[in-house]
Amino acid sequence: MKNEIFLRPTHLDELHWILRLEAGARAEGFIRGYDEATHRKRMADPHVRYLTILRQDEEVGFIILAGIGTQDRNIELCRIIIGPRESGIGQSAMKEVLRYLFEEVGANRVSLDTFSYNKRAQHIYQKLGFVKEGVLREALLFDGKYHDLYLYGLLASEWKNRSH
Ligand SMILES: CC(C)(COP(=O)(O)OP(=O)(O)OC[C@H]1O[C@@H](n2cnc3c(N)ncnc32)[C@H](O)[C@@H]1OP(=O)(O)O)[C@@H](O)C(=O)NCCC(=O)NCCS
Repeated sequence: MKNEIFLRPTHLDELHWILRLEAGARAEGFIRGYDEATHRKRMADPHVRYLTILRQDEEVGFIILAGIGTQDRNIELCRIIIGPRESGIGQSAMKEVLRYLFEEVGANRVSLDTFSYNKRAQHIYQKLGFVKEGVLREALLFDGKYHDLYLYGLLASEWKNRSH
């Protein structure tokens, strides 16, 4: 199926669906996730934006952004989780969120981090032009073992130089 992906602001009544998606990804070790109270607080923060990812009319995932409207125009992509995995939705949603951030929000930089063993996410970030900027060695304890955290960044100038 062709991925016609749309993003729209997340509604507060989608919070329980978000918590379920997070619980699945947390169990797989790909994210840490927030509790409900933290989500509510972040959803009310003017510098934070929750976006629901739609394929046709179906909600298939969400994205959390932070740093909107701040002086440095450095936006953190705090989270992306897709329900139906590996059908190209994640890449389409990332392209759309980067277009939105660089063309509409006026971001100068988009930052994110990922766990060292999350090779699928790293593949996507590198394919989209993100540069690996650093490693926080053994910053993460998962399943009784320490793992590195990889830091990535993409600048507006780099994004504009790519063909879209
Ligand atoms: C990471 C995530 C957002 C990606 O979305 P998705 O819709 O599943 O991914 P897509 O189908 O768009 O793309 C998957 C790509 O990863 C590649 N891939 C899959 N497993 C891989 C692996 N182990 N190593 C390297 N590449 C891998 C696929 O081949 C595909 O790339 P290609 O199109 O170049 O062939 C989604 O899988 C997800 O929600 N994962 C759990 C939460 C998570 O990890 N979030 C990111 C935290 S930093």
